[in-house]
Amino acid sequence: MDNPIIQTMLNRKSIRRYTDQSPSDEVIESVVRAGQQAPFASQLYSLLLSRDRESIPYEAPLLFTICVDMHKLQLFMAKRNWKVVTNHLFLLLLGIQDASLMAENMVIAAESLGLGSCFLGDTPYRSKKIVKEYELPKGVFPLVQLVMGYPAEDPPPRPRYPLDFVLFEDKYSSFSPEQIEDAMRVMDTGYLAQDYYRNVNYMIPLEGEREETFTFDDYSWTEHISRKWGQWLPSLDDLVQRMEACGLKITPTREND
Ligand SMILES: Cc1cc2nc3c(=O)[nH]c(=O)nc-3n(C[C@H](O)[C@H](O)[C@H](O)COP(=O)(O)O)c2cc1C
Repeated sequence: MDNPIIQTMLNRKSIRRYTDQSPSDEVIESVVRAGQQAPFASQLYSLLLSRDRESIPYEAPLLFTICVDMHKLQLFMAKRNWKVVTNHLFLLLLGIQDASLMAENMVIAAESLGLGSCFLGDTPYRSKKIVKEYELPKGVFPLVQLVMGYPAEDPPPRPRYPLDFVLFEDKYSSFSPEQIEDAMRVMDTGYLAQDYYRNVNYMIPLEGEREETFTFDDYSWTEHISRKWGQWLPSLDDLVQRMEACGLKITPTREND
């Protein structure tokens, strides 16, 4: 199944080095329009753009902040004499899907025009600064950021799980130990073959009792991801508080509320 769109998608990789060239307004508008044409539940998103290269990660020329946005919904519903009654958690789930589909359409559109990009996932934890910087009204929550520009590197595409670890027909798989190990091996040998973590010179440090036994010869993706989600951000409170500060009411109503 070979066509230019599938080839573009299969060759895409995150880009973390950019040339000095700034994408034109026409290119930016084309990418955003293509993003907008993604399927939507309710267009529950907004897009913030910064071209302040000095402050953009990886010195990319463009930084998009992709937000879940219930504010605009409230504005036009008020014109129709309606108020939102749907719970904000469900609207948030829909908004995350709307925003993510739009963002990935942008990534592919950008790729097709010779641009590269990279998402930045710590955005919700920097929401207070972003709200202030862009003067966001209540109902707008910064979800994820996307840097974009013309690539100054051409890394190989990164590995993915084997298909039988992802696609289950009729019934979810009960994984055999070999299947789990096989999926881990595909990922780990793939990243090791690219010397990925040695090139970025980064291993997530171990916290607590565990002793470091890995080097860049065997530290790879499954260890990296395990260290991330086995150590970081256990508390829900900070994130919920940040969402509520953005006007999303996602905790159950208690007496006295
Ligand atoms: C939601 C999300 C958050 C991400 N956050 C970061 C990030 O903070 N820094 C970064 O360099 N890459 C980030 N990435 C890029 C991933 O590391 C990258 O997509 C993944 O390793 C697969 O590599 P590939 O995109 O080159 O195929 C993020 C990607 C997504 C989808």
